[in-house]
Amino acid sequence: MDYPLIGGYVATFLVAIGYFAYNDSARQVPATVPQKQAAAASAATAMSVRTVAAAPAGVAKDGAKEPAKDVAKAPTGAAQPAEAGGWTVPDVDGLPDNAFGRMVRRGRELTQRTFAHLGPEVEDPAMRFAGNNLACQSCHLDAGTKEFGLPFVGVFGDFPQYRGREGRVATIEDRVNGCMTRSMDGKPLPWDSEPMVAFVTYIKFLSSNRPVGKPTPGRGTPKMAELSRPASPEKGAIVFQEHCASCHGPEGRGKRVGVAGDGKGYEFPPLGGTDTFNNGAGMARLITAASFVRANMPFGTSHDAPVLTVEEAWDVTAYVESLDRPQREGIETDYPNRTEKPVDAAYGPFPDTLPAAQHKYGPFQPIRDEIKKLKNKAADAAKTAH
Ligand code: HEC
Ligand code: HEC
Repeated sequence: MDYPLIGGYVATFLVAIGYFAYNDSARQVPATVPQKQAAAASAATAMSVRTVAAAPAGVAKDGAKEPAKDVAKAPTGAAQPAEAGGWTVPDVDGLPDNAFGRMVRRGRELTQRTFAHLGPEVEDPAMRFAGNNLACQSCHLDAGTKEFGLPFVGVFGDFPQYRGREGRVATIEDRVNGCMTRSMDGKPLPWDSEPMVAFVTYIKFLSSNRPVGKPTPGRGTPKMAELSRPASPEKGAIVFQEHCASCHGPEGRGKRVGVAGDGKGYEFPPLGGTDTFNNGAGMARLITAASFVRANMPFGTSHDAPVLTVEEAWDVTAYVESLDRPQREGIETDYPNRTEKPVDAAYGPFPDTLPAAQHKYGPFQPIRDEIKKLKNKAADAAKTAH
């Protein structure tokens, strides 16, 4: 290995410092960000971002700590504790200007500005792998470095892994292509292509010092208590207008940096419509998306100081999932072993007999119970067959 791992680790004590301090020290983000903050600050209803910054660490906004009556398990104001010693991210800028350092930084650039390199509006038609103008960073926040913002940190050592969706052991390249074809609504990247090598190199570097086989606290999104009722798109529409529309637009269509066709992407990404993630994406699943939203939205929110209550998060995300979006072809072949299908994958075929709407909006526990029964039955049948 010819690259210095100890290029300087940025220790970001999220819990101890406010959002803007965190923003200064950990965000390795291009010029679009201050723009976003300016827009957020000037938008009348984007007050919530400033509320987050002003809130003392660990304290949720009023109401967020109140157990809502429909919340099934004990809801909490904050997510599970961060790892001891704080959330650390390797210093990408500290890498030398050699082949490896350049490839890591290329991966970061592709993550932040995917639309400019692989999007449907780039000049070279051969490079139009993504079907929408999102960036990986639209969801993998702060270029995949934000705690509980679907970070890439620690992901490298978790692959290859068995994937229920594909019904086989999949590599990190397969996983990147899972997002290319679903979240980005596009085509898979060839494994030996420069963008794929860059993504994998970047993910590997961000996973430095994260042992293989050991989970990384802060990865993915936090666990969130579930509702005992279906999440409500109607109630969520009201929350959306209050907390989201100022950035994502009144109908969730996002706000472009420039104009359609210019390849410059979005200042605020679309959540619905033709230019967003398709129905086979992880963000199209309510459990995944609602916990992402509560821990990260309105933009600038951190998992330990959520702005939305648990109920608001479920309902507003149900509204997001109710928006129209691109439909993925061949989606019915996902999860060849149907009992492995996540309860919130809202497209059939289903292992159980519960309605599609319940898979989309919950409640989910009855689905889990039914799948468990099915599995037990199958196991009994296998025994008596002997
Ligand atoms: C619309 C949101 C969205 C976009 C855009 C997106 N992803 Fe993802 N990605 C997700 C979600 C959600 C998950 C976790 C899904 C799950 O629960 O399995 C995920 C998971 C991943 C993982 C595995 C992470 C882990 O913790 O196991 C990798 C690697 C990944 N994405 C890479 C990418 C890359 C590279 C891009 C851009 C080319 C991209 N993603 C774009 C939403 C997105
Ligand atoms: C202050 C502006 C702002 C507000 C308010 C805001 N968001 Fe976002 N949201 C963003 C930005 C910016 C991103 C993409 C992150 C990036 O590009 O760095 C994003 C990303 C997302 C994504 C993933 C990307 C995608 O296209 O699906 C979802 C889902 C989302 N927001 C939902 C919400 C919801 C729901 C609310 C209201 C509770 C909300 N946001 C409020 C700015 C905002």
